[in-house]
Amino acid sequence: MSDLIYLDNASTTYPKPAGVYAFMAEFYRSHGVSPGRSKFGAAVEAEDMVRGTRRMLADFLGGTDPDHLTFSYNASDSLNMVVQGVLRDGDHVVTTNLEHNSVLRPLYHLEQAGVIDVTYVPFDVDGYVDPDDVRRALRKDTRLVIMNHASNVIGTVQPIGEIGGICREAGVCFAVDASQTAGALPIDVEEMAVDILVFTGHKCLLGPTGIGGSYIKPGTPIACTRFGGTGVRSADRFHPDEFPYRMECGTLNILGVAGLRAGVEYVIEQGVENIHGREMSLWERARDGLKEIESVTLYCADTPENKIPVLSFNIEGLEAADVGAMLDVDYNIACRTGLHCAPLAHRQLGTERINGSVRPGIGPFNTGDEIDTLVGAVRRIAAAKRGRAVA
Ligand SMILES: Cc1ncc(COP(=O)(O)O)c(C=O)c1O
Repeated sequence: MSDLIYLDNASTTYPKPAGVYAFMAEFYRSHGVSPGRSKFGAAVEAEDMVRGTRRMLADFLGGTDPDHLTFSYNASDSLNMVVQGVLRDGDHVVTTNLEHNSVLRPLYHLEQAGVIDVTYVPFDVDGYVDPDDVRRALRKDTRLVIMNHASNVIGTVQPIGEIGGICREAGVCFAVDASQTAGALPIDVEEMAVDILVFTGHKCLLGPTGIGGSYIKPGTPIACTRFGGTGVRSADRFHPDEFPYRMECGTLNILGVAGLRAGVEYVIEQGVENIHGREMSLWERARDGLKEIESVTLYCADTPENKIPVLSFNIEGLEAADVGAMLDVDYNIACRTGLHCAPLAHRQLGTERINGSVRPGIGPFNTGDEIDTLVGAVRRIAAAKRGRAVA
């Protein structure tokens, strides 16, 4: 894939820092045993690595208790546990039109079964959720507000701290899907009044696929929804209530935890703000170039403020999937196209009927030249559609 211009970093970041591949291979070779189950040296050391990673990530997210940093397969896995563990029969939930299916589908299933009632808050013309709309949507029976920190379609970063304050005042649990922001933006769950923060390892935290998790503020009411082996209190009939076991069962993905640890170390070493600043200057370069092209429509891309480096666009008269195929086949550029698992966002943008948008997602290893190649390719595709040659 040496000539590939990879601009699908909002799906998963690629490549990973060299240290991630190296540490995964090295650690799995030397310590690929079951952590936290036995007392022999390698098992204790593997458990130390896991504990150290819980601590590192809890600190990184502003959490106070490393045991409340729990691991899962990915954000979708944790969001399922959150929805099922927090909600009870008769509850009302507030969410937004910007959500990914990993929030929407667990809610739809409970909604369809008549267990919960859901309010979907729209976003404004610039792509932001108004905290007052969330406040107005709250009811006496609202138990949960669940929403993303940043949209994976239009890249808008939501006013999470303000919404967290509203939820805290109302005594409502506030869960944030930080799939697109953990590792990309500074996060402090205490300052932002977030009760549950869900992350995925393979995006901006620069780890591998198959690892994600949540930080759950101590005292947040959430039931255990999965049961099994934990390596502690094995004679008990029931799954332990304490964290991290309440949210974990079975043998941990030690290879994933090792990769995630190396990814987070890289992000900390480089500095979240530095990575973000560099990516956003590439975002502006892409946005400015694409904006100049007649027949290109960009969505909610007026300003780089409160954004992550994701852009959505369409070329008049072309399906997003066809543009993606041309970028791939003719220019070796990888971009995600379609609805990006966020159908309500596209419905509100009016792009659902044209099957979504083209979404370049910029990552830490992209360059200005790659962005220029993307803009040039889109210019040519657009001109060809209009029947004009480009020099
Ligand atoms: C906003 C958002 N939420 C959730 C997810 C799901 O992440 P994962 O596939 O790692 O479970 C994604 C992934 O694209 C996302 O962008």
